[in-house]
Amino acid sequence: GLKKKEVNVLCLGLDNSGKTTIINQLKPSNAQTQDIVPTIGFSIEKFKTSSLSFTVFDMSGQGRYRNLWEHYYKEGQAIIFVIDSGDKLRMVVAKEELDTLLNHPDIKHRRIPILFFANKMDLRDALSSVKVSQLLCLENIKDKPWHICASDAVKGEGLQEGVDWLQGSVQ
Ligand code: GTP
Ligand code: MG
Repeated sequence: GLKKKEVNVLCLGLDNSGKTTIINQLKPSNAQTQDIVPTIGFSIEKFKTSSLSFTVFDMSGQGRYRNLWEHYYKEGQAIIFVIDSGDKLRMVVAKEELDTLLNHPDIKHRRIPILFFANKMDLRDALSSVKVSQLLCLENIKDKPWHICASDAVKGEGLQEGVDWLQGSVQ
């Protein structure tokens, strides 16, 4: 059949936000793992949608590994940025990392789509995606297409909506 267009995606966000859990859910069931552990460095994963073949750089969000992110910015054609909606204390840290990303020379002047997951929406005290969007000042992103979805990566809820948007937004 026709070969699907290949797209490199960077999966970024603080440690424990749910990046690996999200990517695992997007993989075909025979490729999914049962035990997810904190990512060391990064891991390369693949998943397909109806028209695209995604190669994901699932980066570790731990502070000591965050300096690795920028080495992959040039190759990234889309970004998935994951936020733990229940981690109010570190929302400011997530915003700092997002702002650093948006101001990086390899990202700043590119119309690269950014999909945000306000993840862990199942937690009793989770912030809404609207609130997360306000705290991260997403409305200030004017030169890139972006979209935010509330998600529960453990149950797999909200992920398809996000991936559908991403598929429609990559060039
Ligand atoms: P690093 O690799 O360290 O950067 O973390 P990560 O962002 O990849 O997080 P990971 O996917 O390893 O998930 C961290 C923890 O959060 C795990 O215990 C997951 O089961 C849990 N988790 C992920 N998504 C959700 C969610 O939507 N709701 C709840 N309640 N827990 C979640
Ligand atoms: Mg991980």
